[in-house]
Amino acid sequence: GFDLGAGRPKILVGGGIGLVPLYMLAGELVKQAEQVRLLMGGRTRDDILAVTEFERLGVETYVSTDDGSLGEQGLVTEVLERKLDDCPEADVYACGPMPMIEAVQGICARRVVPLQVSLEALMACGVGACLGCVVMTTSGAPQRVCREGPVFAAEEIDWESGWGR
Ligand code: FES
Repeated sequence: GFDLGAGRPKILVGGGIGLVPLYMLAGELVKQAEQVRLLMGGRTRDDILAVTEFERLGVETYVSTDDGSLGEQGLVTEVLERKLDDCPEADVYACGPMPMIEAVQGICARRVVPLQVSLEALMACGVGACLGCVVMTTSGAPQRVCREGPVFAAEEIDWESGWGR
């Protein structure tokens, strides 16, 4: 799972079903009395889940959609850039569609901001046997999302290998 860290503000970025693990993470971070901001993004309002539930936890929640049907019109990564301008010392956590994850990774790498990602992968067995969920890492050792993941520090992943496309 996620490394909760301590003492630094947290920015969570997610979309679609990726919001589910972030809800559980947000609950744990709030218990730790961390300042938590959540940036939700989607193509339309139908991709945005559980805004009220996050707000009830005490999480500052920001919504953006590509078509402007809910929240701000635009990409969640544009919101992330602004929030990191305001709070460059934050830890970032992300879960959602791979294009979103890759864009978040690019921003955090450029700004040298710590990022943890919870990855989605096709899983045939879910117990580490089939190797269908493998991602490539910078050490050269493939890792199974179902066993060694699903959460990885962004710098562990070889983003250039094209495994997620
Ligand atoms: Fe089979 Fe991960 S789903 S090894």
